[in-house]
Amino acid sequence: MTNADFEKLVDTSDEWITSRTGIKERRIADDDTATSDMAVQACQRALDMAGCAKEEIDLLILGTVTPDYRLPSTACVVQEKMGLPNAAAFDVVAACTGFINGLSIANSFIKAGIHKKILAVGVERLSSFTNYEDRNTCVLFGDAAGAAVVSAEEGDSGIVSTFLKSDGRMREFLWSKVGGTLHPHTPDYTYDGTDKIMMTGSDVFKVAVREMANASRHVLDQAGIDASDVTLVIPHQANIRIIEALAKRLKVGMDKVFLNIHKFGNTSSASVPLALDEANREGKFKEGDYVLMVAFGGGLIWGSALVKW
Ligand code: ACO
Repeated sequence: MTNADFEKLVDTSDEWITSRTGIKERRIADDDTATSDMAVQACQRALDMAGCAKEEIDLLILGTVTPDYRLPSTACVVQEKMGLPNAAAFDVVAACTGFINGLSIANSFIKAGIHKKILAVGVERLSSFTNYEDRNTCVLFGDAAGAAVVSAEEGDSGIVSTFLKSDGRMREFLWSKVGGTLHPHTPDYTYDGTDKIMMTGSDVFKVAVREMANASRHVLDQAGIDASDVTLVIPHQANIRIIEALAKRLKVGMDKVFLNIHKFGNTSSASVPLALDEANREGKFKEGDYVLMVAFGGGLIWGSALVKW
């Protein structure tokens, strides 16, 4: 969907969306494509790139807020669709930091010697969860999936440090009110958008800039390196202005920050792995380079991961 498509749906303009968010287009899944279908494609491509057989995967961690079902987890659906006979599988509900949470869990399980080859996936079908009558939110979101194989290897490359944090007191800055046990969908529910994504954008904006900078510094400090030592920063693609403010706080030039928000919009937990994959395929970093991933989302929740490629 392009900005021109949204001009026909709500009172907005290409100029407003571009200048306030940096978004030009988003990808929207067709009606027959479930969240699990997108995850399967991303997982298969990750396995191919890693040269890894399905039998080797012993854990699948899937970040999403748009599951196929309430029960079972989408991870179990993906396990069945792909055929991962030796894997455990579970979902992580961490909005836009879902992939970072997955990476962090994968890193811990591997370092503890519990698992050896883990698929970490971030996938969202946000179009099923977006109120296309609300101009404050509908222009922002898109559908996508991204995945990575995390494996136990010798050597000093890999995940150097991770950081996770949340503050549930700010949960109503970005939430969906109706549909859970607290406010169930009753038979007389008349559609008012409260079962879709609702957001107080300006409040989220301020916390996002502050906490993405803090989360970034945390993993850099843990590794004993400076932001200037990082080859590429891969931030959650929520808003170009948030990303520019983050770069300013970290004192890194925008030439060191990966951007693809113009093509995909905000794809929540898929945003970071999608950007990581594009940056990798474009050769934006090489072996031994530091890559910093940082994300922020509904919870409120934030996290970061520093990788030596
Ligand atoms: N087109 C035209 N006008 C709009 C639109 C639109 N699409 N959307 C909002 N406006 C209007 C508002 O109604 C408001 O008008 P008013 O002053 O008459 O009330 C005006 O623009 C300014 O609204 P603000 O919300 O103050 O605009 P802001 O500059 O903050 O930009 C935005 C809004 C883009 C949402 C920004 O706040 C943002 O990106 N916030 C953070 C989003 C984010 O990072 N989310 C986290 C991850 S999402 C997840 O976890 C799933």
